[in-house]
Amino acid sequence: MIAGMPAVPTILVFDSGLGGLTVLREIVRARPDARYVYVADDAFFPYGQHSEAEIVGRVVPVIGELIATHRPDLVVIACNTASTLVMGHLRRAWPVPFVGTVPAIKPACAQSQTRRVSVLGTSGTVKREYTRALIHDFAGGCDVTLVGSANLASLAEKALGGDADISDADITAEIAPCFVDDGVSRTDTVVLACTHYPLLLDRLIALAPWPVTWIDPAPAVARRVVDLLGAGDIEAGSGAPEMYFTSGRPHAPGAALLPSFGDRAKLAI
Ligand code: DGL
Repeated sequence: MIAGMPAVPTILVFDSGLGGLTVLREIVRARPDARYVYVADDAFFPYGQHSEAEIVGRVVPVIGELIATHRPDLVVIACNTASTLVMGHLRRAWPVPFVGTVPAIKPACAQSQTRRVSVLGTSGTVKREYTRALIHDFAGGCDVTLVGSANLASLAEKALGGDADISDADITAEIAPCFVDDGVSRTDTVVLACTHYPLLLDRLIALAPWPVTWIDPAPAVARRVVDLLGAGDIEAGSGAPEMYFTSGRPHAPGAALLPSFGDRAKLAI
């Protein structure tokens, strides 16, 4: 735990859109007594379609402005596409503690029985040097398939916004390459390497050609937050987070905060 943290810390949770809510809900469970500021950089969504230089050039100054405005005691980057690039830049620029969200490759490979794991992320995340390094260091002999999805984050965003027209075929097309069967062994574990994807978990489970374990890193992020801030008052009632959207477009945060996420994802360790 970091010395000098206030009894009621302010935690800033940042994502390109609503996907970071899947991380926020776990952090709120772990520290219900904290004050939360959630910022969706929807003016720049989807991050997965931007170049590495564009993401660094966007996220670093935006976080600087948010730190100046909200004075957080800790910042969570609840986005794999950004975290796999910007954490070093952020830590060098500001003394605030930062927690990132990166593909949970280590726990996934540790628990796979068939030794076949897929990493489902944005096309940006699966291309990153950072992601390749995680596989190099932690695959432990597993065969890891990287699946870059161009549209799943946008589909999740639409579904959470109440759009009932997201077809099974749209989702199936994005997840199909995760399911590898070479006749000897088949994928048994899929890493949800984008914070938007757990928003669709019920549909991912229903549309999978065979059952797999889905790994959501959010609980591991929440544990890291508690390590840094301390345990706090776990019995406290949680207040509603302040929510900001960089586009200024109207949203229905009440509805967005009560999604039925499904809770069958295996938790990252
Ligand atoms: N939620 C983000 C992530 O975890 C990405 C979605 C996007 O492409 O903006 O990678």
